[in-house]
Amino acid sequence: MDQNTKQFYDEFWPKNVPYYEETKKYMQETIRETKVNKSLDAGCGHGVCSVVLSEFSEDVTAVDISTNCITTAKSIADKFNRHNISFINEDLQVLSLPDNQYDLVWCWGVAMMAPEPMKVIHNLFRVTKPGGVIYLGLYLETWLSPVHQGVRYFCRKFMNTPARKQFVLNFFAGLTKLIVKIKGQEINRRADNVSIQAQVDDWYYPPYKTFYSIQEILNLFEKNGFEAEAIQDRLGRMKSATIFVVRGVKK
Ligand SMILES: C[S@@+](CC[C@H](N)C(=O)[O-])C[C@H]1O[C@@H](n2cnc3c(N)ncnc32)[C@H](O)[C@@H]1O
Repeated sequence: MDQNTKQFYDEFWPKNVPYYEETKKYMQETIRETKVNKSLDAGCGHGVCSVVLSEFSEDVTAVDISTNCITTAKSIADKFNRHNISFINEDLQVLSLPDNQYDLVWCWGVAMMAPEPMKVIHNLFRVTKPGGVIYLGLYLETWLSPVHQGVRYFCRKFMNTPARKQFVLNFFAGLTKLIVKIKGQEINRRADNVSIQAQVDDWYYPPYKTFYSIQEILNLFEKNGFEAEAIQDRLGRMKSATIFVVRGVKK
């Protein structure tokens, strides 16, 4: 099991649970299916997405590597009175679920956090039913990606004590506020209200990150028996970040 990512998200999601209404709005804009039998929330984190999936799925399986995330996700399911979600604490790189099970797989902002993202993605391909659909959100590779990786390396290596990390989070939050003020723009924060500091944390401190081009992910889907299309490019849930979403249907 990837202990580094587990530790990071054990700390992160329990204190940054996003707003249900905004998360639901984003998922409704993204997901085309209105009723399915079995859904998988692969990398469920806080569990708010699992709750939304449970509203139009007969059964939801929510998987996460972080034990604290699973505890948080269970309490969110209880809060919303959802009883059709089962929780599994597993590493998606070595997922034990059987083949061809799920009508819908939601994996947003997860696979590229693993040391071996392709293992995660191939498990998603494997567990999807023929005719089933995957929504896969990944970081987009741009010319800034190597710069980002450099800053992330520096932050994790040299700015990782609690006091130093707080300094980095406040510094980037302050810088963002200053830049948008100078430009006269509105601050580009997540509508689901994860704070700017939390966004900086999730941007610079995760142990692993891989960036992809949309074309290489479309090719990967096609090569593995899916019909795929890119349905969002940076315009989704985190407007300032570089997530793109591919929707793939298993042939
Ligand atoms: C950025 S969060 C995304 C949470 C949620 N999917 C959402 O859209 O808000 C990434 C989540 O993936 C989980 N994760 C990362 N690598 C994983 C792995 N190899 N196996 C299972 N979960 C993983 C983390 O613990 C974390 O909860």
